[in-house]
Amino acid sequence: MAKVDIGRVRSLSIKCLSEVSWHDNTRMRQDVREAGGLGVDQFDVKWTPENAAGVSALIETVDGGGRARKILMDVGWDTDYMDGVFRREGVDRMLSNGEIDFLYITHEHVDHFWGLPAAMRYRPDVKILIPTGFSEKSKELLREAGHTGKVVEIGPEAPRALFPGCATVTFDIPIFLKTHGEQVLYFHVEGRGMITVTGCCHPGVLGLLEYAQEEFEGFTEFHGVYGGLHIAPFEEWGPAQEELLDKLQTYRLQRLACNHCTGVLTVEKMLERGMPVVRGTGSHGSKSDLYLGNGDRVVF
Ligand SMILES: [Fe+2]
Ligand SMILES: [Fe+2]
Repeated sequence: MAKVDIGRVRSLSIKCLSEVSWHDNTRMRQDVREAGGLGVDQFDVKWTPENAAGVSALIETVDGGGRARKILMDVGWDTDYMDGVFRREGVDRMLSNGEIDFLYITHEHVDHFWGLPAAMRYRPDVKILIPTGFSEKSKELLREAGHTGKVVEIGPEAPRALFPGCATVTFDIPIFLKTHGEQVLYFHVEGRGMITVTGCCHPGVLGLLEYAQEEFEGFTEFHGVYGGLHIAPFEEWGPAQEELLDKLQTYRLQRLACNHCTGVLTVEKMLERGMPVVRGTGSHGSKSDLYLGNGDRVVF
């Protein structure tokens, strides 16, 4: 199959709005265990309300044709928490002014998607991109949140060019808590190389990098990643994680703007290896200042 040329963007800047899915890992695991484990439906878990926070990022880019765009990637979990995040970062105004081109929901997991009502308060008719595979309950949530705009469901057949320099790819995989599918953004930044932008990276970071190598034309080198890499979300470490880092290092990424379910321990191990982790400020309740946290920005 012919490779796809996604073009180039002139610039790419990503602000982590929040990387804190929930406040307490132990509480989270207990809620899941009490519901029956990771095989249960996320809608059947009795989540502890005060533990919920959420994951979200603001992507700002200038495409190959010179057009500036803003994308809101994921909308977090707890509505009040996310409303506070959106107000703190001025995303409330961006939404109501129509400055956000579209919402990009990486996957239907509770910590990335259930905060949708917070965004709908400011712009109910914003366009939303979702991967195929959403459950009926997730689709119901889209409607119940008051969304009145267009929903674009993107299938896994091939990379979908969104604008010059940016493509989205849906990975058609089952994910725990009875969810399905995750979509990932790929940007090719002029003079830098390829950057993947992910929510949780459930398909695996190595898989995302291999995909880009195989599918994209004019591929020169990887420059970086942004997002949750799902390496040790519950801070458990072993040979599998070490091996993953060994392989990841062979890609010679220039910048690792990883946070959220990457795990603090993972980042510590990366730093020990001299891997180029983008540091943060530890602001607004971020779990560590070792990596890009709440309110921190990376410019690729
Ligand atoms: Fe995650
Ligand atoms: Fe997830």
